[in-house]
Amino acid sequence: MPYPQKMEETAMSLVPMRAILEATEKYNYAQGAFNVNAVAQAKAVVEVHEMFRSAAIIQGADLANAFMGGRADFANGTLEDKKVGANNIANAVKKYAEHSPIPVALHLDHGKNIDSCVAAMDGGYTSVMIDGSSLPYEDNVALTREVVKLAHERGVTVEGELGVLAGVEDHVFSATSTYTNPLTAYDFIKKTGVDALAISYGTQHGANKGKDTIIRKEIAIAIKEILRHENIFCALVSHGSSTVPQYIVREINELGGDIHNAYGIAKDQLKEVSRLGIAKINVDTDIRLAVTRNLRELFRNEPAMRDEPVVDQIYKLLLEKPSAFDPRAFLPPIMDTVMYGTVPNEAVAKIVACIEKGVKEVVGTLIVEFDSVGKAPLVEQVTLDEMAERYRKAGI
Ligand code: G3H
Ligand code: 13P
Ligand code: ZN
Repeated sequence: MPYPQKMEETAMSLVPMRAILEATEKYNYAQGAFNVNAVAQAKAVVEVHEMFRSAAIIQGADLANAFMGGRADFANGTLEDKKVGANNIANAVKKYAEHSPIPVALHLDHGKNIDSCVAAMDGGYTSVMIDGSSLPYEDNVALTREVVKLAHERGVTVEGELGVLAGVEDHVFSATSTYTNPLTAYDFIKKTGVDALAISYGTQHGANKGKDTIIRKEIAIAIKEILRHENIFCALVSHGSSTVPQYIVREINELGGDIHNAYGIAKDQLKEVSRLGIAKINVDTDIRLAVTRNLRELFRNEPAMRDEPVVDQIYKLLLEKPSAFDPRAFLPPIMDTVMYGTVPNEAVAKIVACIEKGVKEVVGTLIVEFDSVGKAPLVEQVTLDEMAERYRKAGI
């Protein structure tokens, strides 16, 4: 039998995240949204989604953009640094998405203000989050509405946030969760025109979510029910949803790490809410943990790496910071690799492999759990211009 003709290559540019969210709503599954802090992570996120024929949502947080803009001390990153970082990551993601058979969206996670959102959009992000959750309600509405106007003109998707998650949200700290009130959520969605809304319903950021956290799924169900009655589209987003795999925590500690009281959200609960109206599930911590475990393992298994120029500094940082598990704590010695994906030698190639494998291990697992496997063809291939036209016609 003759070999089939090579399938015509369908080059794809980045899609607005809304296209991916609409498919989740229509076919009742959830899409994981995975944070990246380096080009190698973005590459791995795209590749593992390709493996499972799932669309991909890659997200860079405000501070991730600062890091990818070359600021090893990312917490002090300026708007200029964030602009450079947004550009670096968008260029890389566009390159990987261009020849990919899956739709890919690039989303700004926890955008702090209008400037951060504009920097991301200018850089090539196709979706932005404006996190006004720490503001008084009316100020949150006003800020979010402003971002919606600016973004929708460009066809860019917008996620807002209502209710405060416990834990550290970068610029926001709160000791307890303030759950989202479904009635207020409806009012917020109507007034702002957001495409997606992050809700507070029991999850929290970071690795210390507490043992046996129970998600208050009723909150998501109630909001979805109201939206359906009112015929309004808005995808609900579950932040702080890492599962904190116990085997990875154990391995990190066996490899010289010192991480305690680390618990995540049970996979079964995430699976359940993915069928009950949660459309997007944010995961960052799990990736951080897996990459940290891989780096520690590499230096244990290959002691010669400890003396390699440049990567020896990564080893030193791992020794100095046993309780750290954010790869940004260890990667400053190879900032060019972080920013541009350059691989100057064999030793750095091994570090990059640790990063890519860590991403694939946790992201692959969650793509299956959230049931986005095989759903890529269900996502409409809409451009930013077409989406802008739709918003214009709908008056949002
Ligand atoms: O939800 C928050 C993310 O984990 C972002 O972390 O702002 O430290 O980059 P980051
Ligand atoms: P985790 O810290 O649970 O991974 O949450 C990530 C997140 O919500 C990113 O916005
Ligand atoms: Zn978050």
